[in-house]
Amino acid sequence: MSKNNDELFKNVISHAKEYGFVFQSSEIYDGLSAVYDYGQNGSELKNNIKTYWWKSMVQMHENIVGIDAAIFMHPTTWKASGHVDGFNDPMIDNKDSKKRYRADQLLEDKIARYEKDGKTAKAAELQQAMDEALKSDNLTALRDLILEHEIACPVSGTRNWTDVRQFNLMFSTQIGAIAEESDKIYLRPETAQGIFVNYLNVQKTGRMKIPFGIAQIGKAFRNEVIARQFIMRMREFEQMELQFFVRPGTEMEWYDYWKQTRLKWHKALGTNPEKYRFHDHTKLAHYANAAVDIEFEFPFGFKEVEGIHSRGDFDLSQHQKFSGKKLQYFDPEINQNYVPYVIETSIGLDRMFLLTLINCFEEEDLSEGDKKDSRTVLRLHPCLAPVKAAIFPLTKKDGLPEKAREIMNRLKLDHNVVYEEKDAIGKRYRRQDAIGTPFCITVDHQSLEDNTVTIRHRDTMAQERVAIEQLDQIIGNMVSWKNLLS
Ligand code: GAP
Repeated sequence: MSKNNDELFKNVISHAKEYGFVFQSSEIYDGLSAVYDYGQNGSELKNNIKTYWWKSMVQMHENIVGIDAAIFMHPTTWKASGHVDGFNDPMIDNKDSKKRYRADQLLEDKIARYEKDGKTAKAAELQQAMDEALKSDNLTALRDLILEHEIACPVSGTRNWTDVRQFNLMFSTQIGAIAEESDKIYLRPETAQGIFVNYLNVQKTGRMKIPFGIAQIGKAFRNEVIARQFIMRMREFEQMELQFFVRPGTEMEWYDYWKQTRLKWHKALGTNPEKYRFHDHTKLAHYANAAVDIEFEFPFGFKEVEGIHSRGDFDLSQHQKFSGKKLQYFDPEINQNYVPYVIETSIGLDRMFLLTLINCFEEEDLSEGDKKDSRTVLRLHPCLAPVKAAIFPLTKKDGLPEKAREIMNRLKLDHNVVYEEKDAIGKRYRRQDAIGTPFCITVDHQSLEDNTVTIRHRDTMAQERVAIEQLDQIIGNMVSWKNLLS
């Protein structure tokens, strides 16, 4: 990461804490690694991102419905999905530092170092050897590569490594009072399986006709060996997933549709389009016939935010096999029964949250001549802003607070608004800029006479005098979901 990017990332993280967006979980006990809490502004922003996703996926598509499945599922679900046997990371321990690492991550760091030092041939050779070892599940070969390339533990500096072992990423717990192996259940590592096991329930009760989709937003849990980069890789996180069921043979058409539709969703927020790119998977899971990531350029490089996969009939067929229940669809148009194929779109809500914060964070220099001034502003899309308007009485007396509260009580029926009377107006503006509030409304003595206020716009800092009656319309227009959905 370059010095500027490193600084930007650090500033975003401290800003997120200082302004009530994200806190370390159980911070008073020194925190819990890779687990975070969303504060008063963070939870509003997160909810707004969810609303944007839900509206555009469910409300805007007649053939998509949403569900909310439980986090706990029958343990056979995870046998059928392949997670019990295959949802592993190869891990290695250093015997001196007792630190645990992902073997592939150690090798990837080495590849990055070779590239940085201009040893591109060596980097390519190691990449190929690592890919082959991973593909064939050859754990001995992975360890040999770590030794051959003289990779030392960053903590102890030694090369005293254990064997490489597979480490399942699912958290398990016990259901019921008696702890027996048969009572073992898992915290879901993805929300997708809650959709697959409900495929028939939704299809039948909703009389859904193919092609149709089931969407869901919910928590997922993974015992990540390496958790880093703030909320980028967490042990408890949220996903927004769609499983779109199609007639076999039409999947590539729908795959392309969802690829374009999802990128459009991202770009509608006004993000610089050059910050996004598609990354096609060259190595596909055995059941997938196409897979692509939507990547965003974070300060630490292009990273996956969302995955789009053409999954064939893998999941439904597996659940059919393990449950013994038919999960088929009778297609009246072709007079045939079949197990539908699936296109999945899966976006990490926390990654989208981080992307949004990074993308809209600006430290703006407002100096004029010798007069130094600056502000930190979150240029959030108004639809996503945690607070839509802040209402300030110019002073705490002369009936101005009462008038300001009157305005607030009206606006709060439709919007999340706040009232502030402490400090000079300039300071109050800065506090609202820092959380991305698009409008600040100031009530002054003139307001008592003619029912007008000044409204100050976050991005331009321009102020205009408007009638109180107009506020609903001005704010309503700017924060309307129509701006993003049409
Ligand atoms: N059902 C498909 C699935 O779960 P995935 O690529 O493992 O696919 C989808 O996850 C998305 O979930 C990723 O693109 C990422 O945004 C998010 N995600 C995955 N692991 C995560 C973690 N440990 N912390 C935060 N977000 C994560």
